[in-house]
Amino acid sequence: MTISVGELVQTKSLQGMQTMFSQISGRYDHFNRLATFFQDGAWRDQLVRAADLRPGMAVLDVGAGTGEVARRLSRAVTPAGSVVGLDPCALMVEVARRKPDVAGATNLSWVMGQGEHLPFAAGQFDRVTMAFVLRDVPDLNAVLTELRRVLKPGGRLVILETGTPASSLWRLGHHWYLRRVVPLVGWAVSGLRWPFLYFDQSVRTFADPTQVVALLEGVGFAAPSYHAIMGGVVGLYRGEKTT
Ligand SMILES: C[S@@+](CC[C@H](N)C(=O)[O-])C[C@H]1O[C@@H](n2cnc3c(N)ncnc32)[C@H](O)[C@@H]1O
Repeated sequence: MTISVGELVQTKSLQGMQTMFSQISGRYDHFNRLATFFQDGAWRDQLVRAADLRPGMAVLDVGAGTGEVARRLSRAVTPAGSVVGLDPCALMVEVARRKPDVAGATNLSWVMGQGEHLPFAAGQFDRVTMAFVLRDVPDLNAVLTELRRVLKPGGRLVILETGTPASSLWRLGHHWYLRRVVPLVGWAVSGLRWPFLYFDQSVRTFADPTQVVALLEGVGFAAPSYHAIMGGVVGLYRGEKTT
């Protein structure tokens, strides 16, 4: 399937996302390690800490992909708890399932699906997490509304997403890196260039932190917050479901 990067940035179609992530699934983790100078694991650790997990909690990780967040969540909630990793791309999940700690986790299960239509009853999860997915969905409101619906009252949503630094000098360097270096790293790792051109454009056109916080508030999250990591290269968002 041939996809125009511009069209995918515009539509964020699920079929386009499935095609893109299927094509890079086997190299996705390698790309992350190299393109972030091995920082991506520390960012995911920050997300897990912000979730304030306790043994026995029920957690949903939306857009779980290769399981890098889900396997951390699974350890944190202990075998007394449960984690569901949800993703629409079978090949990404296949990579996750091959990881020894994922395959061996008795409290971790996988569901195929998309954030806009979660196949769960309301109020099922203590925590919902989503790392590097919000940029890839066409309707942020629809997804955030669904994430809130499946949380229990008293539950928390934690989102990690690539962003744009606030400082103009840092932003200039970051944009150069995204436009010039990331597609090269992506091509070297996967033999493909277009998914990484999409990556660059999707970051540049993504909502800014103020807009994301406003959206969280708009769908009913209490005390929505934003924490900039590395000056805004990555953003950590939090929202509470009070009732
Ligand atoms: C950049 S990867 C992030 C994977 C993982 N969360 C991580 O931290 O590495 C984005 C994932 O979101 C999934 N995805 C794309 N559109 C989605 C949607 N509408 N709902 C849920 N997941 C989606 C993709 O299949 C892909 O696995």
